[in-house]
Amino acid sequence: QNQGYGVKGLADIGIKSLPNQYIQPQEKRFNIDKISVTNGHDSAIPIIDMSNLDDQNVEKLICDVAEKWGILQIINHGVPLNMLQEVKDATYRFFELPVEEKRRYLVKNSPTSNVKYGTSFSPDFERVLDWKDYLSLLFKSEEEALAYWPLTCRDEALDYLKSTENVIRNLFKILMKGLDIHEIDEEKESQLMGSMRINLNYYPKCPNPELTFGFSHHTDISTLTILLQDDVGGLYVRRLDDDESWIHVPPMDGALVVNIGDSLQILSNGKYKSVEHLVIANGTTSRVSVATFVNPSPNVTIAPFQEIIDKGDKPIYKKVLFLDYVKHFFSKSHCGKATIEFAK
Ligand code: SIN
Ligand code: FE2
Repeated sequence: QNQGYGVKGLADIGIKSLPNQYIQPQEKRFNIDKISVTNGHDSAIPIIDMSNLDDQNVEKLICDVAEKWGILQIINHGVPLNMLQEVKDATYRFFELPVEEKRRYLVKNSPTSNVKYGTSFSPDFERVLDWKDYLSLLFKSEEEALAYWPLTCRDEALDYLKSTENVIRNLFKILMKGLDIHEIDEEKESQLMGSMRINLNYYPKCPNPELTFGFSHHTDISTLTILLQDDVGGLYVRRLDDDESWIHVPPMDGALVVNIGDSLQILSNGKYKSVEHLVIANGTTSRVSVATFVNPSPNVTIAPFQEIIDKGDKPIYKKVLFLDYVKHFFSKSHCGKATIEFAK
């Protein structure tokens, strides 16, 4: 048996048709021709130039976009462009390693639970699998990363992760100002950015792309997700103001995609909104993406900020331990925005 593992293993042996586990029922499939019609709305996802941060208008725009779109693209973000390319190259390198090398990072073999090579989303619970493999790296400390992250992509992932910290802090500063919160104290810091995970995603060329998803629709559990995509395209988001419309997030050289996750929706008492998204499979080429999940610390509780409640807002969400939220999320197949009901 030389099949390897995951969907790259299937693509590598040259399967000609999609195995049953990957076939979505008719009603769940994504018809791009029908769906990317945006019903007359202005469809472009806002692009924000982060070199103009002193401009009050830019701050206001970022907060508006977080409310109305839940997603934006940023340019001039300060992360060196060569680092973007290097981490994408490193992603390819990892997935192109011989099967035995990658297998060392399967859950059952990995020397640490913080490094995990896997496939699909939550294969034990999903009815239909996604056409995606990934390497997930939870950042604990530099020493731990240096000791355990796979050498083929370790330095590139670490350098990239470190260089995004500044723009992440700036985004939070602005988003908090939009909630009238002017200081990010230790507690808020651990709720907003207490832990970081970087996922290297690989979506091989798929024999029947119209029958499946690269990543079926979901929201992220993060506060913010910073996504680096290559030039292939295929990421779609659901409009917050129109359930029927899905919009393509066009690849833009040098840009980073930023989306709001469930945790920030909870902390902001629903003001900033997590956005549903999906990735279609591709019949002609493989695609990589690198997702940085900025998460609360596992052991903090998240609930709408007291400052918002003190101003007279009724809390929409109850307190949840972030770890419980994570467990709940991964114990189900993808279900759009339904997960956040857990915090109600
Ligand atoms: C993700 O939703 O985490 C990945 C999206 C992508 O690959 O574009
Ligand atoms: Fe996502």
